[in-house]
Amino acid sequence: MSEVKSTNIHFHEGNISREERWKALGTTGVTMWFTGLSACGKSTIACALEQALCNQGVACYRLDGDNIRFGLNKNLGFSAEDREENIRRIGEVSKLFADAGIVTLSSFISPYTKDRDAARALHKEAGVKFIEVFVDTPIEICEERDPKGLYKKARAGEIKGFTGIDDPYEAPENAELVIKAGEHDLEACVQQCLESLAKHGIISMD
Ligand code: ADX
Repeated sequence: MSEVKSTNIHFHEGNISREERWKALGTTGVTMWFTGLSACGKSTIACALEQALCNQGVACYRLDGDNIRFGLNKNLGFSAEDREENIRRIGEVSKLFADAGIVTLSSFISPYTKDRDAARALHKEAGVKFIEVFVDTPIEICEERDPKGLYKKARAGEIKGFTGIDDPYEAPENAELVIKAGEHDLEACVQQCLESLAKHGIISMD
C-alpha cells in the first residue's frame, strides 16, 4: 500500500526549515525503533529510557505496539498484511514526530525485515535519523517471562499466528544497536540506548 491514491494533491512547503524549528525549540528529533519478540523487553526499555531522557529535559515520546492498536491502528490484526500496514503507519507517524523535534521511541515487534526497511527508507528520504535497536532476547526467556500469558495461550492453540511460535520473526542483521536484554539489567540496557543517542549527536552525556 505504498502508492498515493489521491490525485490533484500538491505538497505544501512551510516557511521555516526543520533546522529552524529544532533550533527554536532547542530539540533534535530522531526515531529510535525497537524491534524484537513479544516480552523481549522493548517496551520496558523504552519506558525507562523515556524517563531518563525526560530527567535530562529531552523532548521524547513513546509509540508502543499494544497502545497504538487501541486507537490509530484499532482496525488492524496480526495477519502479515495488517502487520505491514501497522508498521507502515507507525513508520510515517514516527517520521512526523521526529521531524517535529521529538526523540521518538517506537516499540513494535515489526517482525518483517522489509517493513522495518521501509520505515528506515521513509526516514532516509526525509533526512531524519533512524536508529534501529534489536532487543535480542532468546524466545526461551520471553516465553518464561510471559507477562501477559500470551505464549501460554499460543502454545495451547488459543492464539493463532503468534510471533515466534507459529508466525515468523526475521531478526535484523544490520541494526545500529543490539541489546541482549536477557543478559543485562534494565539500567545497562538504557545506558546502551543513551550512549547510542549520544553517538548520533542527539543528546550529550555529561
Ligand atoms: S507487529 O507484529 O504488528 O509489530 P505489535 O508490536 O503492533 O505487532 O503488537 C504486538 C503485541 O500484540 C504483543 O506484544 C502482544 O501483546 C499482542 N499480540 C496479540 N496477538 C499477537 C500475535 N498473534 N502475535 C504477536 N503479538 C500479539
